[in-house]
Parts: sequence; structure tokens; C-alpha cells
Amino acid sequence: MSDPKKLFIKTYGCQMNVYDSERMAETLGGSGYVEVKTPDEADMILLNTCHIREKAAEKIYSELGRMRPFKEANPDLKIGVAGCVAQAEGEEIMRRQPMVDLVVGPQSYHKLPAMEAKVEAGEKALDTDFPEEDKFEHMPKRPKASRGPTAFLTVQEGCDKFCAFCVVPYTRGAEVSRPVDRILTEARDLVERGVREITLLGQNVNAYHGAGPNGDHTLADLIWALDKVDGLERIRFTTSHPNDMDDALIAAHGECEKLMPYLHLPVQSGSDKILKRMNRSHTAESYLRVIERIRAARPDILLSGDFIVGFPEETEADFQDTMELVRQVRYGQAYSFKYSSRPGTPAAARPLVDQSEADDRLQRLQALLTEQQTEIQHSMIGREVSVLFEKPGRIEGQMIGKSQYLHAVFADAPGVERGDIRRVKIVESEKNSLKGVLLD
Ligand code: 5AD
Ligand code: SF4
Repeated sequence: MSDPKKLFIKTYGCQMNVYDSERMAETLGGSGYVEVKTPDEADMILLNTCHIREKAAEKIYSELGRMRPFKEANPDLKIGVAGCVAQAEGEEIMRRQPMVDLVVGPQSYHKLPAMEAKVEAGEKALDTDFPEEDKFEHMPKRPKASRGPTAFLTVQEGCDKFCAFCVVPYTRGAEVSRPVDRILTEARDLVERGVREITLLGQNVNAYHGAGPNGDHTLADLIWALDKVDGLERIRFTTSHPNDMDDALIAAHGECEKLMPYLHLPVQSGSDKILKRMNRSHTAESYLRVIERIRAARPDILLSGDFIVGFPEETEADFQDTMELVRQVRYGQAYSFKYSSRPGTPAAARPLVDQSEADDRLQRLQALLTEQQTEIQHSMIGREVSVLFEKPGRIEGQMIGKSQYLHAVFADAPGVERGDIRRVKIVESEKNSLKGVLLD
């Protein structure tokens, strides 16, 4: 038998890209590839790219430049670009970087084996279509090899919301939900391979409406179906839109024990004027009401969010509305960005606000968010949490895992294995993690 060919994948951006990269590696496994950890030994290098914010594409071109020596050392090396930059730039990539052999958009990954064969035969391969079929159904099942205790599982893709700043509706396409039975099959398979926590992924995951045995299932229905999978201990989902937080999903946070008390619910801005300009279709007030209802269902829930500062026409008063909303919500975790104009989006043509002003706002917002995050971490000291241990810590005998609130927790853990869930008392709060002692 000939030696397997070696595949190196570099993943940028969101968790969905992490999931897609895993599935691409498995798919190319069928074409004789095994994954390797460094590009220098690879027969194929795939960059799985992100287009969400500025300079993402430029970063890819400079990364491709860094790949040149590998190509020079090994003329048979194949180089591919996948993900949202591939979707957005398509042929432009091949024009600008002739050493690229393959360009594949996120909805065409099931065509990779055929594309690989073409490339192997010395041709170029490009596919940025939005086909009708479920690409995952046409990608080989994950092999039975065991794996770590946590996994991502994409259940929904694309977005119909068209926020004025966002490329997702263009790069990932219209909203599509995978059918319930396929998700359950994949979840059971993951559990058989050692997975105990699954994070359901979708750009608009709470708009999920996949076909089930008795008509469409909502995300709440899907969570309850997964609740019955033996051996699956924890369920999470991300990312949600405030308008799609329906009553059943909110209630599930209080009633479903496997559903973890953590919710990522981006608001982007606290100013109604800016929310309107962003085409967000919710107000600060309606967002706060959703938060209130979630907290009523699950008082200890840890909230996380996304923010954009410096959106066109944002004034200091608008920014203060965002600060006020943050003070009211109290986030345990957050991601904040300076607005970056994305070609092809409705906001791209609008004049930017003063950039030094925008930088200053971002700093002030991040200071407030960090303060809240630190306070919430400190409030965990003395509390008992449940930790799913994932890997050994830096110090001999230590293990690191995640609490139900998604805090990283490390503890001396003699006899604890990857995948064990233990009760832990938190004794210290460090910058990005908590220290605990095992209670059992
Ligand atoms: N500029 C800045 N941030 C953006 N995001 C999406 N598009 C842009 C943009 N053009 C942020 C939003 C979104 C997160 C994934 O990225 O906050 O929720
Ligand atoms: Fe982008 Fe999210 Fe808005 Fe959809 S809901 S357009 S993914 S920011």
C-alpha cells in the first residue's frame, strides 16, 4: 500500500469553520489523506478562511505568500482555499495567487473528493455554488476513532436576517436547517466515540426549523430530542438572534438539565437608532425583555454577547446607550469589535465615523466588559460547579475542563480522566480561568 498523502488544514474564524475543517479532513480521508500538524510535510494545504471583518482576505494573501517556500520545495504540493473568503473572492484568488490549485466555498465541501482528483490530475478546481442538497449528507461519516469529550455539530447554516454590516448572508447563503434524524445519528455517533458535550452550531441557530418525524422541529424540540441521547451529558448552542428566542427555548433553559446555563445572545448596539440602521429588527428594550425572561427561567445563566462600535452615524450618545445596556445586562463573557466596512453589504457605502473616536469607544467598552467578566469570575469563588474535564493542565496531576458556565477550571485531579464530570469548589479566580478543588 502506498503511503497516505498528508493534509494540513489551517482554520480561521468561527466555530463553524472548526467543524467544517474536521468534516473536510474526514472527507479527504476517503481520498487517501491523513491530517498532519505542520505545513512543511504536507501534500495538500487547505486554508479555511473567514471574511467577517476587515483585512481577512489580505491576511489570506499574505498567508499564501508564506506558503510559497513549501510549494518551491515540493512542486507537487497542492494549495487550496476554503471558507468564506473563497466564497466571496472566488476566481480573484486564483488570479492573484496562481499557485492556488483549488478554491471551494462553504456549500461545496462535499465536492472535495472530485475536486481533489481534478487537482491531482494537474488541473485547477473552483466551486462556489450554492447547491440544493445537504452537503454534510454527502460527506463521509466520521470514522469510529475516539475523540475528545466535546464536539461541535452544525445544525443550521446561513442567515436570512441581512444585518447591514454582515457578510454571512452572502458567504454562507440562505438559512438552511439539517433534518432532526441526521443530527441525532451524528450525535449518537459522537457519543459512542467519547463525546459528552455537544455545541449545536448555526449562524442563526435559534431560527432552526429542521424536518422531524412530525413536521418541523424548533431548536427547543431538537434540544429535547438530544436530551434523550444516553451518554450525552451537556448541550450548548450558538449563535442566537434575540428575535428568535421563543418561549419554548427560554423555558428549556429552566427545564432541561442537559442544557447548560450559558447563552450567547449578540445585541451589537444599545442605541435604537443604530439598531435600526443596522437592520437588526429589535430594540434595546425588546432585547432587555428577552434577557429578563431568560433570567426568570434560569436565574444563574451566564450571558455573553457581541458588540460593534463605530457603526456609521454612531454618536457618543448612541455609544452611551450601548454602555448603559451593558451595565443593565452584566455579561460574563463578550466579544466586541470596531465596525469594519464589508464590500457588498448595505452599510459599505455609508461614511465611517471618526476612527480615533471609534478606537476610543472600543477601549471604553472593552474596559467595562472586562470589569464585568472579572467580577462574575470572582463571584464564583466559594461556589460549587460541575466540571467536564478535557485535558491535562500545565502542572503534573492537574486537569483542565469547563464549568457549566463555560469558565475554564483547573484542579488537582488525581484519577480523573478526560470526559469525567466532577463536582468542584472554586477557590481562586485568575485572568482567564478559575482554580478549583475536587469535591468527589
Ligand atoms: N464589522 C465588525 N464586526 C462585525 N461582526 C459581523 N460583521 C461585522 C463587521 N462588518 C461581528 C458581529 C457578529 C460577530 C460574529 O462579528 O458582532 O455578531
Ligand atoms: Fe450576520 Fe448574525 Fe445578522 Fe445574520 S443575524 S446577518 S449572521 S449578524
